[in-house]
Amino acid sequence: MKRRILVTGGAGFLGSFLCERLLKDGHEVLCVDNFYTGSRDNLRSIAAHPNFELIRHDVCFPLYVEIDQIYNLACPASPIHYQHDPVQTTKTSVVGAINMLGLAKRTGARVLQASTSEIYGDPEVHPQTEDYWGRVNPIGRRSCYDEGKRCAETLFFDYRRQHNMPMKVARIFNTYGPRMRPDDGRVVSNFIVQALNGDPITIYGDGSQTRSFCYVDDLIEGLVKLMATSDDVTGPVNLGNPAEMTMRELAGLVIQMTGSKSEIVYKPLPSDDPRQRRPDITLAKQLLDWEPQVTPRVGLAKTIAYFGGKPANVVGVSAA
Ligand SMILES: NC(=O)c1ccc[n+]([C@@H]2O[C@H](COP(=O)([O-])OP(=O)(O)OC[C@H]3O[C@@H](n4cnc5c(N)ncnc54)[C@H](O)[C@@H]3O)[C@@H](O)[C@H]2O)c1
Repeated sequence: MKRRILVTGGAGFLGSFLCERLLKDGHEVLCVDNFYTGSRDNLRSIAAHPNFELIRHDVCFPLYVEIDQIYNLACPASPIHYQHDPVQTTKTSVVGAINMLGLAKRTGARVLQASTSEIYGDPEVHPQTEDYWGRVNPIGRRSCYDEGKRCAETLFFDYRRQHNMPMKVARIFNTYGPRMRPDDGRVVSNFIVQALNGDPITIYGDGSQTRSFCYVDDLIEGLVKLMATSDDVTGPVNLGNPAEMTMRELAGLVIQMTGSKSEIVYKPLPSDDPRQRRPDITLAKQLLDWEPQVTPRVGLAKTIAYFGGKPANVVGVSAA
């Protein structure tokens, strides 16, 4: 059934892929973005699509539109960007959530929140299941993002309890792919850009800390499947790739796949950097019949190609 769908943060990395996917599924898409970290460039392939509309708007202000579904993705996601103006980051998460929930209440729309694995903080349980409450520093440099997203989750569940609204919360773990910004300090794009430029690859700490990386196509599939669940399904649901990798392993793979001569250099670990992160995706498998399909080699090949790496340099995989 054709729906009118609002994607906030639709000009960003994940949002632009989500807009493309929803248009492909035959929906009308309204993208709302203030271009804080997103760009029109990300929307180039769909800008002229007859079912696509773009509004420059900050979700900290109310929005009056008629829609059937809302994906609330507006919020800078990389530490460099969310720490640049931390008060604005918290406002975007908290006031933005209130405005989107208010819009959903008025229109009867189903609303999905792009939450994050950061709500688990530096976790004491591993892998993280949805019933783990997290260990977050409330006053650190990452807190504007972590606590903002935690408060947004609270608001989603309070609106649900008070107004019985159809809503969903996805806890997204590290996702990578084309359209990540080269300057945003996220580890995958950092390593790739450094490797392609022949610059030293910077590892913070000793490189034994782990992350799990999900390719963007897999993540978008998970979001769409979660939105399609019945009204009794609220989540939170972890969406991410449980395959875990140390930063040293990732750096080695990127060097190998780009054919780079870059050396690895080690720098001090930033404050509150979590030691390990891996989603338990049992719930997503059960509820959504979803699990990541894209291997790190295939996902990295596509990402390296996006950043200008020659697919010929990519050992053993096709960048298609
Ligand atoms: N990419 C990941 O690994 C990841 C992991 C966990 C959660 N998430 C969440 O997914 C969402 C999208 O992340 P992303 O990686 O695409 O980040 P991104 O920074 O590329 O995209 C965020 C988008 O939101 C827009 N935006 C920011 N503040 C806004 C505001 N006040 N009003 C309107 N638009 C605003 C930005 O301009 C940008 O287009 C975010 O909410 C993020 O917290 C992402």
